[in-house]
Amino acid sequence: MPTEAPAGVAGSSGGAARGSVVITGASAGLGASLAVAYAEPGRVLGIVARRSDALERVAALCRARGAEVVSGVLDVTEGAELEAWLRIFDAGHPLDLVIANAGLFGGIGADGLLEAEAEVAALLAVNLKAAIVTANVAATLMRARRRGRIALITSLAARHPLADAPAYSASKAGLSAYGEALREWLADSGVGVSVVLPGHIDTAQTALQKGVLPDLMSPESAARVIKRGLDRGRSTIAFPVHLLWLIRLGRCVPWRVRAWFGRSLRFTVDDPPSF
Ligand SMILES: NC(=O)c1ccc[n+]([C@@H]2O[C@H](COP(=O)([O-])OP(=O)(O)OC[C@H]3O[C@@H](n4cnc5c(N)ncnc54)[C@H](OP(=O)(O)O)[C@@H]3O)[C@@H](O)[C@H]2O)c1
Repeated sequence: MPTEAPAGVAGSSGGAARGSVVITGASAGLGASLAVAYAEPGRVLGIVARRSDALERVAALCRARGAEVVSGVLDVTEGAELEAWLRIFDAGHPLDLVIANAGLFGGIGADGLLEAEAEVAALLAVNLKAAIVTANVAATLMRARRRGRIALITSLAARHPLADAPAYSASKAGLSAYGEALREWLADSGVGVSVVLPGHIDTAQTALQKGVLPDLMSPESAARVIKRGLDRGRSTIAFPVHLLWLIRLGRCVPWRVRAWFGRSLRFTVDDPPSF
């Protein structure tokens, strides 16, 4: 029988070993809070991002909490480099949980123009392609051992596409669809897949969003909700739950009615430095 660890982290039920966890996009925001939430004695954390100084600050926080930390300073859109890093990490610390979290936000700016080609390409490269590569490598390695969990950080925008961030919404809807497909493909393999759909989190991404941000939560609270869901082996972790229900309700009415009710939530997006 497959032995999928309920917490997605082998050894979490006892003993000194707390398993190994890799988090991409861990230099800031939600990823940094997830790294700190998982940091404890006996845990090996692999944290990945481009900014070495920011990543090192997160590593120091995690080490202070007793975790062993391996930093990977790399761009997740460099697929071969990402795969090589994951394989080397796995050889030393077999992967128990991989969280594909690295992401970019973008949308329609004050000029009212749709996203430029370079912005669309960057959003899809980081939010969709790199997350798929991360999950594919993890799935291959975990499947051979018949245990592990992969978490994909998507967004409630996957369920309620945002008129003011169409390409971003498409990237997250694509990743959510990929996660559901991968979960079924891995059924009975001992490897679980969790699709995570958060609402607004107070990070550099929401700082770009000019408009109302209903139910904005701290990255620490969001990390707690996600960790609790992963510990329970949930296949879908969508929150805040009342927003999810509003979205479900909204899908039952014609799109113009949905758009009319949502008009006070329209926003513009400042260009992030990387576009
Ligand atoms: N904030 C929200 O309201 C919200 C809501 C729903 C979902 N999410 C999702 O949650 C995830 C985390 O977002 P956040 O809000 O924490 O944003 P953030 O504060 O901007 O953090 C993004 C992280 O991704 C990393 N990253 C970006 N591009 C990368 C690349 N090419 N290679 C490696 N790392 C890269 C960044 O590190 P470097 O810059 O150092 O590379 C950073 O650590 C994203 O997938 C986002 O879409 C956020």
